[in-house]
Amino acid sequence: MSMFSDIEHVLVTEEEISDRIAVLAEQMNALYSDDDPPILVCILKGAFMFLADLTRKLTFRHELDFMEISSYGTGTTSSGVVRILLDLASSIEGRHVVIVEDIVDTGHTLDYILRNFAARNPASVRVATLLNKPSRREIDVPVHFVGFEIPNEFVMGYGLDYSEQYRNVPYIGVLKPEVYQESAED
Ligand code: PRP
Repeated sequence: MSMFSDIEHVLVTEEEISDRIAVLAEQMNALYSDDDPPILVCILKGAFMFLADLTRKLTFRHELDFMEISSYGTGTTSSGVVRILLDLASSIEGRHVVIVEDIVDTGHTLDYILRNFAARNPASVRVATLLNKPSRREIDVPVHFVGFEIPNEFVMGYGLDYSEQYRNVPYIGVLKPEVYQESAED
């Protein structure tokens, strides 16, 4: 059966994502300039699609870098303990940085990244996230550019996975509960 049959409903359509990214890009275009090009840091894997669409809408010079973070523990909630699987290739000392995330949930991953980056003495750090789930927040983190505030539903697609699948779905969808309940019973 098609993976699309696992999706209960569409939460954010392709068009809504594209329109909203254009607005976020405008906000960034007004803030950054070619005089001091920032580094956009994509937090893998989930943010790869957001980064790809966002970077094409930016009109100022910028660099891209990538970081992969993993939370210890299993399941669908963050444990608060994270580790770096892939670190930045470039130095961010004295540079303006924009962290690009797909979702801020409990906030633990972002809190870790912000503390880790602060130790590297960047000129500034701002955060862009496509999705924000404020109802799940366990730790206060600053988020400067937010695509969509979403309810506490099990979302996937547009880079976000369930069990490493569905990242290629071109919109944000909500999975049928039986999909992750079945797998929890395995
Ligand atoms: C997701 C997301 C954030 C983090 C948010 O990554 O990309 O990095 O969880 O959760 P938090 O606010 O509760 O810390 P995930 O660990 O699923 O990795 P992935 O992007 O590789 O799928």
